[in-house]
Amino acid sequence: MTEILIYSTETIEFLAKELQNGELVAIPTETVYGLAGNAYDNEVVKKIYLAKNRPSQNPLIAHYHDIAQAQQDVLFTEEALNVAAYYWPGPLTLVLSKNFKCKISNIATCGLATAAIRVPNHPYSLELLKRIDFPLVAPSANISGSLSPVNAEQVYKSLKGKIKWILDGGKAIQGLESTIINMSSSTAIILRPGIVTAEDIYDTTKIAVEYGAEKTQIAIAPGMNFPHYAPKCPLRLSTNNPKPGEALLAFGPANIPEGFSYVLNLSESADLKEAASNLFAHLHTLEDMGVSSIAVMPIPHTGIGTAINEKLIKAAEAKNNC
Ligand code: TXA
Ligand code: MG
Repeated sequence: MTEILIYSTETIEFLAKELQNGELVAIPTETVYGLAGNAYDNEVVKKIYLAKNRPSQNPLIAHYHDIAQAQQDVLFTEEALNVAAYYWPGPLTLVLSKNFKCKISNIATCGLATAAIRVPNHPYSLELLKRIDFPLVAPSANISGSLSPVNAEQVYKSLKGKIKWILDGGKAIQGLESTIINMSSSTAIILRPGIVTAEDIYDTTKIAVEYGAEKTQIAIAPGMNFPHYAPKCPLRLSTNNPKPGEALLAFGPANIPEGFSYVLNLSESADLKEAASNLFAHLHTLEDMGVSSIAVMPIPHTGIGTAINEKLIKAAEAKNNC
């Protein structure tokens, strides 16, 4: 039986005990909902992979309540510390070298010398993290290959019967997975684009971060190689001319042709942040309406647009489209 729980102090206390006992809990974050479990416990980590049907070579992100707790497991360079101090809690994941005392399960890190870590920005999950004495590994709370969930009902739809508890924290504000940056060596590299861009990081901390993991020796986030973010129907990208019968995912002030019943706009004012926060939510809605294909208007490849386009390209290419 899977239950959605409403926030209260008692709920947090209860879920902290469940996590201590090795249960999994779907938790809200500002990016997407995560399927959380004790990062230090191999058996718990195995349960997460099993519930999601996630490929075992795809490592997980460990979530902490603050930098000091994360320092128990990984080594921060001075620059990583500056970036973390500015952006945490927030939608940014850092890949850092494990320290010699690192207790994160090797199954979660796939035996790598590095670990991906972040402090999520959601009051309920931060409260939960503070009540336990271990970090939580949490991949997106959905069956691998399907759309990431941005509310508790979408988690329920994807994982009902496979997990016991979902903590309802409302709609994920950012709506898109965190930016992942490898800061384990002297060159900081974006492994997965997201809400926080290289330009933001330079403006705020004067630390240079490079795009293009594929041009370097450092592998891209392994998870980027797996099919992802796919709605159940095909997507046709960068088109201003939807065909009859297609649903339209619009961006900016759109000239909708006559007779279109399924139109959702990512942002009428062409605001990329708003578009990012609506992306998965709108794809979920269109999928639920049972549309047979989705035409997507062009979205600029700048700033957060890079992350939005990356998700859309992945969704369009996904093998499991029907
Ligand atoms: O916003 C998010 O990051 C959400 C919420 C729940 O926190 N989580 C999330 O997790 O997106 P997931 O499992 O869907 O994506 C984790 C990504 C994968 O692409 C994985 O390959 C990468 O992180 N990753 C994990 N450890 C890594 C490492 N040591 N080196 C490089 N990439 C790593
Ligand atoms: Mg995911």
